[in-house]
Amino acid sequence: MFTAADFIPKTYSSTIENGNFEWSAPSNIALVKYWGKKDNQIPANPSVSFTLNNCKTITKLAFEKKESKDAFSFDLLFEGKPKEDFKPKIRKFLERIEEYLPFLKDYHFTIDTHNTFPHSSGIASSASGMAALAMNFMSLEKKLNPEMTDDYFYQKASFLARLGSGSACRSVKGNVVVWGNQANIEGSSDLFGVEFPYAIHENFHNYQDTILLVDKGEKQVSSTVGHDLMHNHPYAYSRFAQAHENLDKLIAIFESGNIEEFIKVVESEALTLHAMMMTSMPYFILMKPNTLQIINAIWKFRAETKTPVCFTLDAGANVHVLYPENVSKKVLQFIKNELVGFCQNGQYICDEIGEGSQLIIDN
Ligand code: DP6
Repeated sequence: MFTAADFIPKTYSSTIENGNFEWSAPSNIALVKYWGKKDNQIPANPSVSFTLNNCKTITKLAFEKKESKDAFSFDLLFEGKPKEDFKPKIRKFLERIEEYLPFLKDYHFTIDTHNTFPHSSGIASSASGMAALAMNFMSLEKKLNPEMTDDYFYQKASFLARLGSGSACRSVKGNVVVWGNQANIEGSSDLFGVEFPYAIHENFHNYQDTILLVDKGEKQVSSTVGHDLMHNHPYAYSRFAQAHENLDKLIAIFESGNIEEFIKVVESEALTLHAMMMTSMPYFILMKPNTLQIINAIWKFRAETKTPVCFTLDAGANVHVLYPENVSKKVLQFIKNELVGFCQNGQYICDEIGEGSQLIIDN
């Protein structure tokens, strides 16, 4: 079993003065939700997600050796312009990962980042953003330790991404990613995400996710506050047990291709996440009236047409509409006819399962 100490490097065999990398990392959508954590970004329960393909963060990291090594030094550009208000989050991330990347204070960094989705869309950019940054730092560490194996590279990238934002560890590699110890999933770990290691029926290949932007406003509850609400939550114990059960159910569902059962698990997880928020102290309702309109319209359409379409939710009002590729024409028509009216300015984003992060530049 891995421990965090396995990611502390002993020595580096090489040196590098300057250079730059660029990585893209996708967002992901959880099927079994991560909600509740312990110290050091250890999840209270395991989660599993589909990696997305189109909603991505693209981050360029330029680095240059500097004289003094006593502090972090970096500039941050978002969409090409300096963005001071993102810096504290990045600084906190650097502090958390310094133990594992002891060279961080040796360089001045320029971090130049943008998203392929609108910033104020209510789509969390922390998963894709932290994953893209972690990939870049790992590329730099690989220059210092060229013997590094690919397995270590991706595992440690996910480990670092987790320290930036829990769900980011599921945005590194693979179509379907598990994060958190689960007895029946070999190799699963609280420390990093792993590719789902068992059979996945073709029904789930190229699964589609159309994200309906219901409310693009600022998040009402930050994820830190949200996860904290699970401490002393009256239903925490049974919720965490349920997440394990649902993940076990998904192992069988992925193998059999049973979409009807998939829908039950996924929708129940989404509603449970929101139920946890509604029953915490303080309590929150993060759905909007249009979120419910959409859910009801999906249920009606599914009952009437027997089309296997379902929804999931993040900690907000937007709705992810999930469906197999072979019904995409029909579902997109339904979305255009009946759901777009519930979206803010009629906006939605078509996405589907993707592969994970990708190296764009290595100089
Ligand atoms: C509801 O990963 O954003 O999207 O670790 O505090 O950064 P932090 O939390 P974050 O939480 C995501 C919660 C969720 C469910 C999920 O993605 O599993």
